[in-house]
Amino acid sequence: MPIATPTFPVPLVFSDSLPKTYSALTPAIGTEFAPETQVSSLLSSSAPSTSIRDLAILVSQRGVVFFREQDLTTAEQRELVDRLGKETGRPEESGLHVHPLGGTNELGGGGKEEVFKITAEFNGASEDSFNRSTRASNIWHSDISFENYPSDYAILKMNTLPKVGGDTLWASAYTAYDRLSPAMQNFLSTLTATHVGDTFHAPPGGKFKEPRGHPENNGQHLSASHPLIRTNPVTGWRGLYVNKFFTKRINELSVDESDHMLSYLFEHIAQNHDLTVRFRWQPGSLAIWDNRSTLHSATNDYGSATREGDRVVSVGEKPYYDPTSLSREAALRVKQD
Ligand code: SIN
Repeated sequence: MPIATPTFPVPLVFSDSLPKTYSALTPAIGTEFAPETQVSSLLSSSAPSTSIRDLAILVSQRGVVFFREQDLTTAEQRELVDRLGKETGRPEESGLHVHPLGGTNELGGGGKEEVFKITAEFNGASEDSFNRSTRASNIWHSDISFENYPSDYAILKMNTLPKVGGDTLWASAYTAYDRLSPAMQNFLSTLTATHVGDTFHAPPGGKFKEPRGHPENNGQHLSASHPLIRTNPVTGWRGLYVNKFFTKRINELSVDESDHMLSYLFEHIAQNHDLTVRFRWQPGSLAIWDNRSTLHSATNDYGSATREGDRVVSVGEKPYYDPTSLSREAALRVKQD
């Protein structure tokens, strides 16, 4: 399997320029800033490149970072997520993703099709219970893993929420990798998988939007092959890059072997709740996550209530596995020694 090495030294070094108002939510994943910290202030700080780069490094290390009571506009949200990738060395051709179903301009994207409206309908929360899976764990995913150049970072800001319910969970792909035996880690590192966006259907007679944030994210078949173990170019850590929603086949295995292995890996993620963090949103809450090294799953437990937010997803590098990269566990151990 070819290894694409990034054009900058890995891992990126944190220069500690962020306000010290954050704390870890769990050992494995998730960090939350105190409500008085406005992420918009990083865009206007005296050294925005350093602050945004540090924010990207923090997000890549912790998987997901949360802010509350945010004043960030959708224009600033687009700028911030775009710069997280730019300041950390993503390919020049990569930009903001345009969802295959298009943006939802009229609903508040500020006329920008890169702003995707997250609604109860999109998440499937309003489907009748007969047609809906009764397993909440079925929708764990990493955004747009069906693209040749999938996402590096994403920002979701929630505007309207049910009184209770609609939490989102994130899982650490680093810890999912760390929990596997060395023999399994070695075996999986030789494999690739096909990710397919077959849950999306182009409108009747219509077409999916293209290109979608990178010249190679085009075509009407939403499908791509990626290594099963992926190195994060910002942290240099290895993660398990599969998700139940989009990963359909391990390319080098027979159909039966692939089905069994994927089902084991999906269970491995869903059953290790200590590699997850659960976030209870409030209006104005904002989450920034690294799609290369996390999975997430919304919770559709709020019936007919309204749940609505704006998501902007940026496109990163072509996924690669670097056999010289370390696991998160090994990297943190080296740091402590
Ligand atoms: C998403 O899948 O990106 C949306 C997550 C959510 O609705 O909480």
